Amino acid sequence: MLQINSLQEMQEITYPTGSRIGFVPTMGYLHEGHLSLVDASRKECKITVVSIFINPAQFGPNEDLASYPRDLERDLNLLHERGVDYVFFPSSGQMYPDGYHSWVEVEELSNILCGASRPGHFRGVCTVVLKLINLVRPHRMYMGEKDYQQLTILRTMAVDLNLPLRIVGCPIVREPDGLAKSSRNVYLDQSQRQIARSLSEALQMAQSQARSGILDSAELIRQATEHLQSRGARVDYVSIVDSRTLMPHAQIDEYSRMLLAAYVGKTRLIDNLQLL
Ligand code: PAJ
Repeated sequence: MLQINSLQEMQEITYPTGSRIGFVPTMGYLHEGHLSLVDASRKECKITVVSIFINPAQFGPNEDLASYPRDLERDLNLLHERGVDYVFFPSSGQMYPDGYHSWVEVEELSNILCGASRPGHFRGVCTVVLKLINLVRPHRMYMGEKDYQQLTILRTMAVDLNLPLRIVGCPIVREPDGLAKSSRNVYLDQSQRQIARSLSEALQMAQSQARSGILDSAELIRQATEHLQSRGARVDYVSIVDSRTLMPHAQIDEYSRMLLAAYVGKTRLIDNLQLL
């Protein structure tokens, strides 16, 4: 496994001719969710590149940039064991040098749902991902459905800006009790960890209600919200949207997906599930 931290070195790599390049962008502190993306890439691509970069541009001033968990050595070992070909971990100074000016904004989709409570977050995500794509030059990029809005926004960016790559969405990897795996789960103490189960429970409840014929979104949202609150989570939003466009769905159909975000203590958690 080749370890690269210089932008120039990354951009100048000559890959073997004709080999498909798969790319998995991450912020590190890797878990089985990230590694499932690596496995998907390894299955479909000759070469797999993983990036580890805690992107300051996607954190708000009162968010957890300073405390975001990190363990580069452990991450490098995991990626090596998993058969990754290249790991790219640039510094913020190289990615955003003094005099940096250029930003990518996917309008409308970036201001709803998570974007409503995290202004500028998706602008930071889109900018860094486009920069990473330009450096790595992949044919496919593997991303988790865990961050469903991020996946949809980046798909939109790729179409709008004619990026020559395919984005592959991969299913959410969960703990045995249903909690979606996340680097931020380490922030939870034992009692918060119990409360955190309520996110996947609320989604499961909504899914079984929808499957039993309750197709009124307002009712499903009301019940999911109530469940989260009764378990002690502070709801940021619970929405039912069209999984292709993120536009709200009043009535459930085959494209309806419930997306939610809630605070457990100070930790903001997200999760989502297709309803039918
Ligand atoms: P990060 O939170 O590290 O996630 C990196 C990738 O792993 C994302 O595509 C995310 O959806 C996926 N992922 C995280 N948890 C997952 C889970 N439980 N199951 C499946 N996939 C999971 O998302 C980011 O980093 C950043 O915004 C990034 C795209 C790297 C840009 O900075």
